[in-house]
Amino acid sequence: MALYSDKVMDHFLNPRNVGIIEDADGVGEVGNAKCGDIMKIYLKIEDDIVKDVKFETFGCGSAIASSSMATELIKGKPVSEAMTLTNKAVAEALDGLPAHKMHCSVLAEEAIQSALNDYYSKNPEKKLEGGN
Ligand code: FES
Repeated sequence: MALYSDKVMDHFLNPRNVGIIEDADGVGEVGNAKCGDIMKIYLKIEDDIVKDVKFETFGCGSAIASSSMATELIKGKPVSEAMTLTNKAVAEALDGLPAHKMHCSVLAEEAIQSALNDYYSKNPEKKLEGGN
């Protein structure tokens, strides 16, 4: 069996939503100290919906595929749903990642969480509206 699924290869070779959002409502950057890879997520949020999302990833192929898939999974979705995206869901949407590459999908989950936390810290009233 091939190490990487067709979906991983597709999102690695043709990543969706690469780039930056200049006037982003939330920006999150995370890194993995072990491998040194870095992921940055930009969010544009309107009416509690993720209107746009872009990423920059300096990392391995699985990290790029994970960022690409993660952005696709939250684009157009309510913020509350984006908040609950797990690395497992990202890996499953990619038809799996090798065990030693699961941490790459964790980076995607953490980068999105970090961008959402940035958004909430700039818009604390939104968090109150959400009831938590
Ligand atoms: Fe570290 Fe993939 S090897 S994110």
